Parts: sequence; C-alpha cells; structure tokens
Amino acid sequence: MNDVFTHLESEVRGYCRGWPTVFTTARGSRITAEDGREYLDFFAGAGTLNYGHNNPLLKRRLLDYLAADSVVHSLDMYTAAKRTFLERFEEVVLKPRGLDYKVQFPGPAGNHAVEAALKLARKYTGRETVVSFTNAFHGMTLGALAVTGNSMKRTGAGVPLGHGVAMPYDNYLDGRTPDFLLFETMLDDSGSGLDKPAAVIVETVQGEGGINAATAEWLRGLADLCRRHEILLIVDDVQMGCGRTGAFFSFEEAGIVPDIVCLSKSLSGYGLPFAVTLMRRDLDVWEPGEHNGTFRGFNPAFVTAVGALEEYWTGETLEKQTLAKGELVERGLNEIALTHAGAIDTVRGRGLAWGLVMRDPDLAPRVCGEAFARGLLMETSGPEGEVVKLLPPLTTSEAELAHGLEIIADSVTAVRDAVAV
Ligand SMILES: Cc1ncc(COP(=O)(O)O)c(C=O)c1O
Repeated sequence: MNDVFTHLESEVRGYCRGWPTVFTTARGSRITAEDGREYLDFFAGAGTLNYGHNNPLLKRRLLDYLAADSVVHSLDMYTAAKRTFLERFEEVVLKPRGLDYKVQFPGPAGNHAVEAALKLARKYTGRETVVSFTNAFHGMTLGALAVTGNSMKRTGAGVPLGHGVAMPYDNYLDGRTPDFLLFETMLDDSGSGLDKPAAVIVETVQGEGGINAATAEWLRGLADLCRRHEILLIVDDVQMGCGRTGAFFSFEEAGIVPDIVCLSKSLSGYGLPFAVTLMRRDLDVWEPGEHNGTFRGFNPAFVTAVGALEEYWTGETLEKQTLAKGELVERGLNEIALTHAGAIDTVRGRGLAWGLVMRDPDLAPRVCGEAFARGLLMETSGPEGEVVKLLPPLTTSEAELAHGLEIIADSVTAVRDAVAV
C-alpha cells in the first residue's frame, strides 16, 4: 500500500501489515473494509471486544451519556459515572465471589494496571524482585517489559531490564520435573542468588505467549507457594479476564484468590480504554497521588463497563455459553489437527481462547494470511509466532464459529498444498 499509512505512520505499525486493507465499520463479530469486504473477526482487538464490536446494548448507554453533556474527562475526581461503576462492580463482580478488593484506576491500558501492581507490591513488601514466567507477556512499559519473556520486545527497551526473574511456566519442562522444583529450591537456598521476591506475576492462560493454559492444579500450587513464602500473587487478567475463559476472572476455576489483579482490555466492554488494579484491602498503602496519570477517569468507559456488567454478568448465561462455544471450537480445531497432523503439532486453550500450534513456525502467519484472503481475521502468538490464535468475541454465534472453523480448515489445506508444491 503506497499511501499515507506507509508514508507517515511509523515502521512500528504491526497488525495492519497482516491485514492490508482499510477498515471502516464493525458490528458484533464482523468488521467491514472500505472496499465493502466483510471479515469475521476472531482477533477481537486482542481480547478487547469480548462483547463484539459496537454492541448495541452498550452503544445506547454511551450515546445517551454523551448526548446529556455528561462529564467525559475527570482525572480522579468523583463523578456520578465513577460512583455507579464502583457500586455495580462491587455488587455484580466482587461480592458474589467473596472478594474484598480495593480498586485503583491506574491509567487506561493494560500496562498501566501492571505497572501499578508491580510498584505497589514493591512498596508494600520493601522488596525489589518480581518473579514472572517463561513466555509471559505483561506490556511494553519498562516495568512490565522486565517481567515479559519475549526477547525481541525486551531488546526494544534499550536499557537493562532489572528486578525481574523468570521461572518455568506450567509444562515448560514437559512434565520432566515436579512443578516449582527450581523455584522452591532457590527460595529455600540462601546461596541460590535469588533475592526474596516481592511478588509473582502470572497469566492463567498466556495469550501472547502462545495460548499456554496453566492447569488449575499448577495455579493452586503457585498460590500455595506464595502464601508459604509470604510473596504477593499478582494475576494479570488483562487478556483472559472479563469472561474470556468462562468465569469473569480467569483464576476462579482454580479457586485461588490473588493478592492483586490487573484488568483492562474488555473491562469497558466497548473497546474504550479502561484498566483497574485490584488489591487486597490491607495492601492499599498508597499515599494520595503517589501514582497518578491523566486518563484515570474516562467516564464513557465507566458507563459502558457498567453496561457490560449489567447486561452480561448478573446471571450465568454468558459463562455457560462461553464454555459451550469453547468446546465447539476445541472439537473443530481437533478435527483440523487430525486431518493435518503433519503440519499441526497440537491444539490448546481454555474457554474461548484457542491456539493451533504449527510444527513449522513459518506456517502460522501463512495460515492467517490465507484466512484473511477468505474473510477471517486471526493473529499469531508464541515465541516464534508459531501459534494461530483464536479469540472470537464471546457473543459470536455458533454459526459464525462454525464458519470461521471452515475457513481455518480451508486455509490450512491451502498452505499445505502450497508447501507440498
Ligand atoms: C496479559 C497482558 N498483560 C498486559 C498487556 C498490556 O496491555 P496494553 O497493551 O493495553 O498495555 C497485555 C496486552 O496484550 C496482555 O495480554
């Protein structure tokens, strides 16, 4: 494309390179380009559009709010929209789950929620080290990068990334060693060189890292280890929270209660920037204004977030539907993997986050390219970009999921045929 994008927009642009078209409108699980071509969207803003594009139930509330000249920007001043969000978040999300968290508005992106969590853990414990896991992804700011695995992203920092130590994630060593053997041995050994960590930060399912889903047992083991060693447990639920794995929080299935939780992406429900850092009540040792930021009070996001809670989280319907749709996707992908066992290594995921792991990493972007040509958006993930990643909106119909799976099957066939030639 020889146009204003390539002329003016930085070389850092990424997703647009895989989908070289100009998008104009979107509704539900479909997004349309200016040439009139419609695409099924199994990318969903990398997990930001769990309730679909321009969800009409949330749009109505947003339009009404704006039409009334209600406050849009307010830093962290008290507003009626913020009050309603806090009240409804407590009633719909926290109380029914027996969670007694305080809510920090750290700035609108996932990395803001992570930076606040890391700073708070360090301040509370007086310790510096934070343990993260192999193939973790926590964002692009320096603190978040220091606990992120990907070497290309880490190199981009341009400075040493300090005070983070990586440990093996669940199944990293293919079950060859008992869980946490290295971690716990190092914690117990005063000669190991591992300073006592302030916190452990973990994703229950590593989205960017290749859809690696930790087992509930591993997560419980981690929570137990943290408790025994008085290390804070931070769950980064930026991508897997808000129902992506079924329940509102992805850690619920494991029955663990993290000390700190990061949420963003689908929290506003509408693609509007919004993040929170949730902390155990006694961890709230911040001084007023000690951690601030201009965009902590984006009221339209409070409004659509309340909409999402009231429309989707007062009952169990969405959670059940997500799990049922996840099974449908898993079955479909397993059939594709069986047909193309030579090209596909494995299928993995949870809820409505799924990955098709290609044996040859070069094939994953090619499958996504073929899918794009056939009208389906999907991204790749994993350290080598070897995983074809599916994150359809949770509101995607079964017919749309089936159609997407057909496109994936055709795309894998096309890539295999091309490779065989
Ligand atoms: C688990 C996780 N944490 C943090 C982030 C960073 O979020 P943001 O890109 O909004 O800064 C992401 C983004 O993909 C993520 O997946």
